[in-house]
Amino acid sequence: MEKILVLDFGGQYDLLIARRVRENGVFAEIRPYDKISLAKIKSAGYKGIIFTGGPNSVYDEHAPRYDKEILSLGIPVLGICYGHQLIAYMAGGKIRSAEHGSEYGKTDVYVAPCALFSGVPEKSVCWMSHTDYVCETPAGFAVTARTDNCPVAAIADEARRIYGVQFHPEVTHTAYGKEILRNFLFGVCRCAGDWKMDDFIEKTVCEYKEKLAGKRVLCALSGGVDSSVAAVLIHRAIGDALTCVFVDHGLLRKNEGDDVERVFHGQFKMKLVRVNAEERFLTKLAGVREPEKKRKIIGEEFIRVFEEESRKLGKTDDLVQGTIYPDVVESGKGDASTIKSHHNVGGLPTHMEFEEIIEPLRTLFKDEVRAVGLKLGIPEKLVMRQPFPGPGLAVRIIGEITKEKADTLREADAIFREELENAGVRPSQYFAVLTDTKSVGVMGDAGTYGYTVALRAVTTDDFMTADWTRIPYDILDAASRRITNEVKTINRVVYDITSKPPATVEWE
Ligand code: XMP
Repeated sequence: MEKILVLDFGGQYDLLIARRVRENGVFAEIRPYDKISLAKIKSAGYKGIIFTGGPNSVYDEHAPRYDKEILSLGIPVLGICYGHQLIAYMAGGKIRSAEHGSEYGKTDVYVAPCALFSGVPEKSVCWMSHTDYVCETPAGFAVTARTDNCPVAAIADEARRIYGVQFHPEVTHTAYGKEILRNFLFGVCRCAGDWKMDDFIEKTVCEYKEKLAGKRVLCALSGGVDSSVAAVLIHRAIGDALTCVFVDHGLLRKNEGDDVERVFHGQFKMKLVRVNAEERFLTKLAGVREPEKKRKIIGEEFIRVFEEESRKLGKTDDLVQGTIYPDVVESGKGDASTIKSHHNVGGLPTHMEFEEIIEPLRTLFKDEVRAVGLKLGIPEKLVMRQPFPGPGLAVRIIGEITKEKADTLREADAIFREELENAGVRPSQYFAVLTDTKSVGVMGDAGTYGYTVALRAVTTDDFMTADWTRIPYDILDAASRRITNEVKTINRVVYDITSKPPATVEWE
């Protein structure tokens, strides 16, 4: 399989670069610069190497650097931002801090003909974000781009196929960024671009068929996208040697437990242990009002239940986890030796002994995981679903949790989601919250005293910040009417129009 190495020097765009490469049908692997040796790079058969940006100046005492031999391996290199400065520095050029401060944002760039800029007009817009710049071009390199403030905005040693760009081709604000990356992958590195999801499935299934032969494997299924796709992949490899345990804590959305059972047991014929532990969880949660305490109780209780169930199954050798690539990169930058805490619950028991943690999705991004899920035949409804917090409705029921409140919220939430989905409106996340407020209302001739439910919908890319979604009034109206008509205990519906910050997505 042809692959590109994204050598990470601490830049914020490492994932984005890898993504852009993969969008072109070429596999990309991110490695922190200090976690891969020159010998490993030599033997891995990379078709090309991309140096990422980074926050340092090359002259900083602890600046990340790399063995300059990397430029002599005969593997094409593209340096971006700090990576560009590092190439210049390694090859004997000089870097300086900009006299007129940093260059930041959309900037006009003028390029000269070279393989990297094939098809790029002489003048276009690029995205700049730097303070240092290359002030002395290293011997053997030509200057191939400039901006008004940056005399050496790109360099090239075409004979050795080594390129550097001060700007960020991976960012959409760079008008010809896609072309530049394509030029590097196909023109310079001569990639074929034939990496496909089907190859991934076939290769992974083959690999685990061999690796897990004769073993018994366990998977904690949450109903979320990642663990579902991981489970189906491993099931395809080893069939009934895989057992999935699905703990229903009674705080799932309407029909969620049945859906999981229908898909995994009904459709895929997987060995599935569904544990209906509603009563057990609600008993533990009785009288608890504090959000973090609710989370902790659910996390701990989940572990107890999971342990008990796996004990009943007898010894299992390995555990499947739905770790995906961003998790790998975030948890220790490339070192995923630590078990990812099961993000849908509070973490899996650390003292349970497994020979190995199986993470079949650890090289994939979320949308790639979804693509694999669809190809495996997992229903779209499950694969494309919005995120759902591990503690479930517990963090959407303000104050004490009771079965009556959970049932009330489940109904209201299902109606709101249905109205949005039927209208074709799909915010990044959308749900109902049962507030702890009751208020006076009127129904027919009688007064009522019922719950107030809050509807929440947000638009976001990363959930770190989020904007409240401008849902058309007609949809809000339909949801409000249906909720107050169909859910007896609710007599008031409000819409949350707060963004994050200052609010959070969830209410607790
Ligand atoms: P907040 O409320 O922090 O939510 O703005 C951001 C995203 O994280 C999800 N979330 C959780 N997910 N366990 C989870 O698995 C939790 O305790 C939890 N709290 C928040 C939330 O649904 C949103 O997608």
